[in-house]
Amino acid sequence: MSKLGVNVDHVATVRQARGTAEPDPVTAAALAELAGAEGITVHLREDRRHIQDRDVALLRQTVKTRLNLEMAATDEMVGIALKIVPDCVTLVPEKREELTTEGGLDVFMNRHLIKKQTDLLRQGGIVVSLFVDPDLEQIKAAHRVGAHFIEIHTGAYCEARLPEQKQDELKKIDQAIRAARKLGLGVNAGHGLNYQNIRNVVALGGIEEYNIGHSIISRAVLVGMDQAVREMVALVKGG
Ligand code: PXP
Repeated sequence: MSKLGVNVDHVATVRQARGTAEPDPVTAAALAELAGAEGITVHLREDRRHIQDRDVALLRQTVKTRLNLEMAATDEMVGIALKIVPDCVTLVPEKREELTTEGGLDVFMNRHLIKKQTDLLRQGGIVVSLFVDPDLEQIKAAHRVGAHFIEIHTGAYCEARLPEQKQDELKKIDQAIRAARKLGLGVNAGHGLNYQNIRNVVALGGIEEYNIGHSIISRAVLVGMDQAVREMVALVKGG
């Protein structure tokens, strides 16, 4: 059965808007775990716009499930990961001007750099996942550079408006899941998933973990973290 990883970046975004100590993403992570989340994800961006180094260090000490650190494939970030030793690192592309991660990693074009960083992380005892579009070339490249997992970028499916476009994007995700599993890669998924659009993805099967942030934190603002996480856990488990 699939697991839910909750991304608590948006809690830090609210904190940073005032530059105070609240709300604390570390507290949000604990509440998410109590509500049934089986992983906590944070993205330590190079510009530190939301999650701070202090958050990652505290989460390493307090997370009881699994800590997944999303980060760019830079030497600075790999150095931090090797010190903190999260359970998993998910390498993502990062542009300073974007609102959120916009596309998957181009593993094929950047294979030398990504292999070097993947090797270092693996040697440090960290599971490595690569955030990629549902594209066969990228999945094969992820396998070749030695990743343990891919995380399929579900953004195109979530943003598709017409039913036939949605169906096409869902088919790409399905093919990506099968191709990755055939190569022996674990498969996670995330980006843009909410309480409605996740149902079709769950029905495909084959995904180990969903990493979801925006929709859960948005709902938590209105109904509380506990209810927001419990409802998403139920969906991820096929409810
Ligand atoms: N997975 C990755 C790799 C991401 O970059 C993000 C966004 O930070 C997510 C999952 C979560 O996306 P969302 O906030 O849209 O649920």
